[in-house]
Amino acid sequence: MTFTPRAPWAETPEPVRTAVAEALGVTVVGYKDLHGGMSPGPAASLQLADGRQVFVKAVSAEVRAHNHMMILQESAILDALPASVPSPRRLVTVEHGPWVALATTWAPGVTGTAWTDASIAAVAQACRTVSGHRAPDTLPPVAKRIFDFDGWTRMLASGVGDDWEVAHAGPAAGVVAGWERWTAGDALVHRDMRLDNTTFDAQAGSAVLLDWGYAAAGAPWIDLAQLAADVVATGHVLGQQAATDRAYRLLQTLPPEASRFVVGLTGMWCIRAATVPDTFNPSIAAWRRARSAALRPLVDRLIDEFRDSTAAGSGADR
Ligand SMILES: Nc1ncnc2c1ncn2[C@@H]1O[C@H](COP(=O)(O)OP(=O)(O)O)[C@@H](O)[C@H]1O
Ligand SMILES: [Mg+2]
Repeated sequence: MTFTPRAPWAETPEPVRTAVAEALGVTVVGYKDLHGGMSPGPAASLQLADGRQVFVKAVSAEVRAHNHMMILQESAILDALPASVPSPRRLVTVEHGPWVALATTWAPGVTGTAWTDASIAAVAQACRTVSGHRAPDTLPPVAKRIFDFDGWTRMLASGVGDDWEVAHAGPAAGVVAGWERWTAGDALVHRDMRLDNTTFDAQAGSAVLLDWGYAAAGAPWIDLAQLAADVVATGHVLGQQAATDRAYRLLQTLPPEASRFVVGLTGMWCIRAATVPDTFNPSIAAWRRARSAALRPLVDRLIDEFRDSTAAGSGADR
């Protein structure tokens, strides 16, 4: 889903575009604006005089300081990733006045608008490759990159939410409790696993994970858990029932904490939709509400299963 109108590359100040070309060391002979992603700044594919196609994204701190910081953070993270991680390679990062621009290698394939069984399989494989790596020492623990995971506890305390949320906040808060402990680990975690942060090459049957600014060290199942949540929240070409089914099946292959993580993500979207006025982009609240609403049937089932497992005495400390 695209809800952020990205600025066109052509509106990036000319000195910034020139600085990117100079850093790349080659003339830019063409470009195409890209529209996915979450930032207000431009993203584009650049056609270079030497025949290469590269990706560039840029933003001015005056437009949104957070995204400016994230581009610098992502630049440092990309440099720390081993070559065997399915990510783009950083080419150049350019700072010019309040602007920052990051150019990377082009990722083959396309960014879909709904999941397919083939793209789920390829992205799941990419996630497994990523988590097979130990996180570089420079990356923080994933708890530092997880936000609003106390969403259900806060919903419970404040009483905000619709009937479903009020009814589920208590048990859901119990499912998520202790998340700082059970998400910890030393595997490389992308941590922002969504369809719009992937490309899928149908011919090769492979995927590349994009947008690495939140990468961290954590439990190896985290990106797969978030993939499961995103299949439901973003949707599957075969419809909502298929999305829930695929997500559930994926979670069945993972430790029980992965299911708890999905419940935590849902609480995050609920509390944010209820309490965070996003003046930068008002439609983000509706986007969060839609995601948490789509996840309800799955979360219902996961909460029930957690209750059953703890009642059986097997999952009390999971
Ligand atoms: N290296 C790349 N190769 C090809 N397309 C890319 C690449 N990086 C990003 N994209 C495309 O550009 C969009 C925005 O990029 P992304 O890095 O996710 O920006 P943001 O940080 O704004 O979310 C992605 O959704 C994807 O479609
Ligand atoms: Mg993105």
